[in-house]
Amino acid sequence: MLNFDFYNPTHISFGQGHIAKLDSFVPMDAKVMVLFGGQSAQRTGTLDEVQQALGARQVLLFGGVEANPTYEKLMQAVEIAREQKIDFLLAVGGGSVIDGAKFVAAAIPYVGEPWNILLTGGRDIKAALPIGTVLTLAATGSEMNNGSVITRKSLQSKLPFHSDLVFPKFSILDPAKSFTLPERQVANGVVDAFVHVIEQYLTYPVNAPVQDRFAEGLLQTLIEQGPLALSQPDDYEVRANLMWVATLALNGLIGAGVPQDWSTHLIGHELTALYSLDHAQTLAIILPAMMQERRAAKGEKLLQYAERVWNLRDGEAEQRIDTAIEKTRAFFESLGVKTYLKDYNLGQDAVETALKQLEQHGMLKLGEHQDIDLAVSRRVLEASL
Ligand code: NZQ
Ligand code: ZN
Repeated sequence: MLNFDFYNPTHISFGQGHIAKLDSFVPMDAKVMVLFGGQSAQRTGTLDEVQQALGARQVLLFGGVEANPTYEKLMQAVEIAREQKIDFLLAVGGGSVIDGAKFVAAAIPYVGEPWNILLTGGRDIKAALPIGTVLTLAATGSEMNNGSVITRKSLQSKLPFHSDLVFPKFSILDPAKSFTLPERQVANGVVDAFVHVIEQYLTYPVNAPVQDRFAEGLLQTLIEQGPLALSQPDDYEVRANLMWVATLALNGLIGAGVPQDWSTHLIGHELTALYSLDHAQTLAIILPAMMQERRAAKGEKLLQYAERVWNLRDGEAEQRIDTAIEKTRAFFESLGVKTYLKDYNLGQDAVETALKQLEQHGMLKLGEHQDIDLAVSRRVLEASL
């Protein structure tokens, strides 16, 4: 196992009706900015429930945070929050709203141009406002991690940052809040969580059986519960399991002490920034092609994945790996998430443009061995056509 530091200070409060607990989590004298997305939080009544729980606290609402939240929109929140001397941020939504709140939290006290937070990957963040979250979509794990991904529309750049200062102080996970999700977002969430586990698991062995078996359990749970969330959309137990598996997929636990990849995500971010594909759609396109391209470097773990996750124990090793990759693609397709660029009306032009953007963003040494250069990314993208 590799050496590691594991730190996760987020208090999780999990269960139906737990929004009422906001009253005990948010300081009584806080001046709160509640961030939310387009319409869902209002339409579903979640926002009302949140306001009620906040009681007599001073609350300022900031709506309109987009899916794939933008620097342009979030800077409006930064300006208002500075003016109004906001001292607590509450994100009500999915990964986009939570990521947006993390950026706003770090940008408010930031000296200089806040886009630098993204350009430096969060390394120079010295302070951030406290954040709490009310999760409405199981997918990203942002509710229990220190990461955020922000898009600057004018530059067509979508970049991540990390800082321990933006871990949510608490996150309220009420699985019933996810009943109102459209099918597409439920499916996206399953794919995103699945690929989060894969990015931390499917690398090379370092004799870390705890992390491996934990990851394999999460993957098997997603394979089992994901389709149920679509076929039994009113089942609370299924939503509860899905919400918890997605949180555990990216809260730092399974990634501690093991190599990590993240190349599928970083290439996928370019496709979202350029063509507005959903985050999970980009992952579903890139991952199967990436697995094929990296089958030699990832051989041992791919075989373990085939055996332990997909139960493929007979036949030649190479054949089992092929079948595991096919099953991965078929799993995404079965959820309704398409796995080729052409399914989204994208072709060779998109490959060339994405490669240019990867170059511009310095994404030239990706993967657990830092050997995914532009030539490899080209092969992956072309195999995704
Ligand atoms: O905007 P509204 O109207 O609220 O609608 C949202 C949005 O359109 C809707 N929605 C959310 N909860 C709902 C609901 N609709 C009905 N009922 C509900 N309960 O769902 C749509 C998608 O929401 P979004 O927050 O964008 O989805 P998700 O949670 O998948 O977040 C995706 C973002 O997270 C980033 C992605 O890059 C992307 O920008 N990621 C963040 C990570 C992190 N911080 O660790 C890791 C991930 O890899 C990912 O990159
Ligand atoms: Zn993701």
